[in-house]
Amino acid sequence: MSTQAPAYELSEGVRRFLAAPKQLLIDGEWVEPVDGRRFDNPDPSTGETIAQVAFAGREDVDRAVRAARRAFEEKRWHGLPPAQRERILARVAELIDEHGDELAELEALDCGKPVTLARRVDVRLAAQHFRYFAGWPTKIEGATLPVSIPNMHVYTRREPVGVCAQIIPWNFPLLMAAWKIAPALAAGCTVVLKPAEQTPLSALRLGELCLEAGVPAGVVNVVTGPGETGAALVEHPLVAKIAFTGSTAVGREIGAKAGRDLKRVTLELGGKSPNVILPDADLDRAVKGSFQAIYYNTGQVCTAGSRLFVPKQHFDDVVSRLAEQARAAKVGPGLDPQTQIGPLVSREQEQRVRGYIERGLAEGAELVAGGDGEKPVEGGYYVNPTLFVSTRDDITIAREEIFGPVLVALPYEDLEEVARRANATEYGLAAGVWTRDVASAHRMAALLEAGDVYVNIWGPSDPSAPFGGIKASGIGREHGREGLDAYLETKTVWVNLA
Ligand code: NAI
Ligand code: MG
Repeated sequence: MSTQAPAYELSEGVRRFLAAPKQLLIDGEWVEPVDGRRFDNPDPSTGETIAQVAFAGREDVDRAVRAARRAFEEKRWHGLPPAQRERILARVAELIDEHGDELAELEALDCGKPVTLARRVDVRLAAQHFRYFAGWPTKIEGATLPVSIPNMHVYTRREPVGVCAQIIPWNFPLLMAAWKIAPALAAGCTVVLKPAEQTPLSALRLGELCLEAGVPAGVVNVVTGPGETGAALVEHPLVAKIAFTGSTAVGREIGAKAGRDLKRVTLELGGKSPNVILPDADLDRAVKGSFQAIYYNTGQVCTAGSRLFVPKQHFDDVVSRLAEQARAAKVGPGLDPQTQIGPLVSREQEQRVRGYIERGLAEGAELVAGGDGEKPVEGGYYVNPTLFVSTRDDITIAREEIFGPVLVALPYEDLEEVARRANATEYGLAAGVWTRDVASAHRMAALLEAGDVYVNIWGPSDPSAPFGGIKASGIGREHGREGLDAYLETKTVWVNLA
């Protein structure tokens, strides 16, 4: 049943933040875009406008990149002692924790995710990410090299790449900002971050917190705007490295530009991740995990387990349990503490997902849950958890990334067959397997073509564990030492001692 939007009391901190004009963070100052343009930022739970956000054009992007370049050349950041950079990054983590409730509320408001999950997952992990990378500046080491040329002292220095353009999506706005900014700063780079136009608020707040923590002016710049703002940033000649998370289509375009300009690039892109229940799996656990794998964050997760392979003998059982859970899930506004599944981020995304549901029906998949037009709040961008079953892997909804709460369950008969079908996708971000047998677990882990394989769990994340995709799911890894390496260059120094 549809109702009017319930009014949630916003906290003092969030109200104050929303009341202030939304500007661009350039060189440590909040500034207006040169041509004064703004765009509406709607609340996905109701469709109502929350804020008017600055639209950064080419000139604003240029100002931001120049500021970042100046900060880099003047060594405002990488010139500081590593221990001081460690303290400042750790202070960012503390400030995220201190403002955790407020950040969770802002995130729930801006992207529609359940506030309780925003607090437990997004905010907590964002702080953890800064804390982890705070430990790195004091540990970035070069090497002395055993070259065979006499009287030669040769060593390497690990140096920051320079100005980084960082473009992020709307599904985990604060966390993605942390995943980008923290390793770049740990390496000594300066950054210009562009959050998604659908969810700019928490990145602006994080920019404020970075300044408050003592990150020098010009080291972290935040420009808001749509894809064209991102394109201007990617194309800027003073940008040395691009880090992008988003759609595979835009990732290809950015990769091509980076190739032409020979800029360093890392890309975290889409997925159509296979989730395989083996015949011996603990079915309670597998069903619970598979539900989370697809419906968490309303399916707007790059690692969403969107193709579920179930052995024939368990198929009806697993499908009926999932359908039951899907129907029982509490769909509602992000700020409602009872909400388990929030709206999609935008009207556009809602329409895209509904388009896929229609496509599924048209191509003969059987709908067993959801797929209806019921909304808990009129005007919000809700899609109920939807479950299809199909015997065909080649239908659109079993091939393309939907990025919404739509699962396709597919029956299978033997292990060889299921691994082959699981890998028959252009993507390779994540894959999962549910089993009690240790040998099957490791065998499947080796067979599945993906950057991350989950065994008896779905989608854990930790700053020390490399994350990224193979095939069309991306290039490079974030997190851990590899994530840091993406922001460093190696310089080899030859000293003639003769
Ligand atoms: P998108 O890839 O267009 O947007 C992601 C970010 O890239 C945003 O900040 C956007 O402003 C920016 N951007 C867009 N065009 C750009 C360009 N030409 N140059 C530089 N930056 C650009 O994704 P969108 O349109 O929001 O969502 C479309 C689909 O992409 C989703 O349905 C989903 O399938 C996929 N997606 C995947 C994500 C992931 O985490 N892998 C995240 C978001 C979307
Ligand atoms: Mg929004």
